[in-house]
Amino acid sequence: MRIPVIAGNWKMNKTISEALDLVNDLKSRLTNVDDVTIIVCPTFLCIKSVADALGNSNIHVGAQNMFWETSGAYTAEVSGEMLLEAGAEYVIIGHSERRQYFGETNETVNKKVKKALALGLKPIVCVGEMLEDREAGNTEKVVDDHLTNGLAGVSADEMKNVIVAYEPVWAIGTGKTATPEQAQEVHAFIRNRIAELWNEETAEAVVIQYGGSMKPGNVKELLAQKDIDGGLIGGAALKADSFEELAKFNK
Ligand code: 13P
Repeated sequence: MRIPVIAGNWKMNKTISEALDLVNDLKSRLTNVDDVTIIVCPTFLCIKSVADALGNSNIHVGAQNMFWETSGAYTAEVSGEMLLEAGAEYVIIGHSERRQYFGETNETVNKKVKKALALGLKPIVCVGEMLEDREAGNTEKVVDDHLTNGLAGVSADEMKNVIVAYEPVWAIGTGKTATPEQAQEVHAFIRNRIAELWNEETAEAVVIQYGGSMKPGNVKELLAQKDIDGGLIGGAALKADSFEELAKFNK
């Protein structure tokens, strides 16, 4: 049985005080949710304050990126060790915005994933096609490339700590959601590939989230699909009322 995972990717939003206002509000709204794993991913700058405010509540903290080295002359980078000490348990790796604007590649994704796993940080690894890939009929090819190369060398045992997020780039921040059928088709493809690359048991255990304009109005339909186990949410995670509805999608 896979426990659904609802995660908010706050991207470059919220100052420390705004972040604290939001999590303090969420903490009281979501106290009774015990059948969904809830994660918030603020900017690096807010992780410590947010994690301290959440304490040992049922809301977990993730980062939006990390570097694979422990420390050293890497101006402006942040290591997994630093994230762990600040209170992060999860880390988003390979988000399409990192790939598009900051030169992230499957190779850098792979280094980050391996380091996160070695430290006990759980990676949320993003995969997904651009509009032109979909239009050219290359969705599976691109998703397979992200999955196979991004997760190369990860063991079946380690895969149980990996979350895969399928985020079609054309659906991110556009209000254009993939239909539940379109998303399910790719999620099933991903689960089959995990079974081929690792094994059946691993494929059954791995949580595969959908991301891209997920909101209270479409969450139920998307999560009703067999292979959609949660959501990685941008815009709708920035407000307490909409994130509450998303985290309570099954109520
Ligand atoms: P939106 O929910 O704003 O479309 O963003 C999705 C996303 O990129 C989450 O990582």
